[in-house]
Amino acid sequence: MLRVCFYHNKNIYINCPETILIMFKKRKITLCLGSSCFARGNQEIIPLIKKYISRKCLEDKVLFIGDHCMSNCSQGPNLCIGDKLFEKIDKDSIEKILDEGLKDLD
Ligand code: FES
Repeated sequence: MLRVCFYHNKNIYINCPETILIMFKKRKITLCLGSSCFARGNQEIIPLIKKYISRKCLEDKVLFIGDHCMSNCSQGPNLCIGDKLFEKIDKDSIEKILDEGLKDLD
């Protein structure tokens, strides 16, 4: 199954993002792009996360991917950073969530 990976503002389709994580020891940011989360705002979150990664120069430390439904639609829109799930994210909260989830990468 191909998944979209956002890397240096380009969309790359890869089979196994976990391989990249292991090879380069990156923190994975997974944005749910299932239909429910997508329609409820995650489509607008994509450029905000890309800008955050660029602004903080984290391109070599994180892997930002979009994935299918996380089976948690009722609490969406959803985002995972590493193994931690963030629910009901929106444009106003994304900066604070990324700060929290990536604070040890600076
Ligand atoms: S669409 Fe995001 S959890 Fe189902």
